[in-house]
Amino acid sequence: MKTPLNIAILGCGTVGGGVAQILTQQKELLSKRAGREINLKFVAELNPEAAMKRFSLDEKIFYKNGQKVTIDEILADKDIDVVVETMGGKSDFVHNTCLNVLKNGKHLVTANKALLAERGRDIFLEAETRKLQLGFEAAVCGAIPIIKGIKECFTGDIIESVSGIMNGTSNYILTQMQLQNLGFAEALKLAQQNGYAEADPSLDINGGDASHKLILLIKLAYGLKLSMEELSVVGIEDINQNDMDFAKEINASIKLICLAKLKDGKVYATVRPMAVKNDNILSSVNYAVNAVRLDNKYSDTHFLIGKGAGSTETAMSIVSDIVFIARHGEVETYNEEEKYTLGDAKEIAFPYLVSFKTKNLPGTTGLITTCIGRQGINIETVGHNRFSGETADFSIETDVCCLKSIEKAIDDIKKENKELLLQEPKILPILY
Ligand code: NDP
Ligand code: HSE
Repeated sequence: MKTPLNIAILGCGTVGGGVAQILTQQKELLSKRAGREINLKFVAELNPEAAMKRFSLDEKIFYKNGQKVTIDEILADKDIDVVVETMGGKSDFVHNTCLNVLKNGKHLVTANKALLAERGRDIFLEAETRKLQLGFEAAVCGAIPIIKGIKECFTGDIIESVSGIMNGTSNYILTQMQLQNLGFAEALKLAQQNGYAEADPSLDINGGDASHKLILLIKLAYGLKLSMEELSVVGIEDINQNDMDFAKEINASIKLICLAKLKDGKVYATVRPMAVKNDNILSSVNYAVNAVRLDNKYSDTHFLIGKGAGSTETAMSIVSDIVFIARHGEVETYNEEEKYTLGDAKEIAFPYLVSFKTKNLPGTTGLITTCIGRQGINIETVGHNRFSGETADFSIETDVCCLKSIEKAIDDIKKENKELLLQEPKILPILY
């Protein structure tokens, strides 16, 4: 057997604690699989007592010479080969710590999608320059092996499109709204009560967390390094029961979809709620489950469905990265060249479901459909008109067109009658 691989974990909360638990419980098996001993040497944690109790861990991994082991001691320890960062956040402190792990010649494994997506450029570069491994399987869809899927399993293929449900909390909320007819606020409360949503759920519902994951997948699949500002993102905050019903009427369910598509040398990408037709498997991926769909040039379509979060679920991906490092060590990783540019997300061709809240007046539907027709958009169906005295709600399903044309049609409606629309129309791409 080779020399042992020594591990340290920074932050022993939900994910870090799960990693410590698996490494401890399965030490013998993992060491056999890795072909060398996998040894959890230290865990740096602000509150070791709570972590020990919560994850049934041995006191000795948290202390050195009777004191809590510090991050600086771990960085300086020549015996530590791999550092697992599970403190979370994208503060200067966490960013510098990750850089310093690599600068000290140690491999880095992290679940921190916010850090890698928003401040990861120099961390990736540092790892690459030093020929160290940067494992981040856990950062995108928790337990789903999409990173190795793209980097290893489909390296013989061209990924033409990546799409999926990459935030469990928003999927839980939308599922409750769809299947239990809950309002958005009620569904969000339930997600919080069940421990899905964060105390501050803004990144879950505004598409930020899903965007972090899509940015990482786009980098892997297409070599394109996007910032958050470059990605076109719409959250689920404005989805209501009317939208759910309109989607149901066209045999679809509303999902927060991450999509990146390669076309004519450009990558078109967006994160937004879409009406997913029931024939598409993504439509029946419910509650906190995540799913990724790959459409490949040679091997066609694949779905990976599973847990996108949770303690041991996410930790498992970290442990798999550790075993990979134990087996392969300092191998040079190929990073996709940055040969594509970002296309305008408004040019992605979709059929659309557009819903309107208007004054309940004669000629309203006529005016709206005329303005849509003027943009050369063909209408497939007009959804049920729901009257509520003074106001009316109805939806229009279009043929394939692009968002720019829909937006022009809406501007046109506003020009024709400034007071007709009582709120901004909801525009949902329809995903087949
Ligand atoms: P937690 O808040 O549960 O855990 C973070 C832990 O790090 C806490 O125990 C915290 O201590 C500790 N910590 C913070 N700062 C320090 C420090 N300076 N030194 C030592 N310990 C520190 O977060 P999660 O485990 O949920 O998330 C960790 C990462 O994993 C995040 O990047 C998250 O985005 C990612 N992730 C999480 C998933 C999940 O299901 N939870 C799924 C996929 C990714 P204290 O609590 O005392 O402050
Ligand atoms: N908040 C995230 C989610 C956790 O709901 O999917 C996993 O990244």
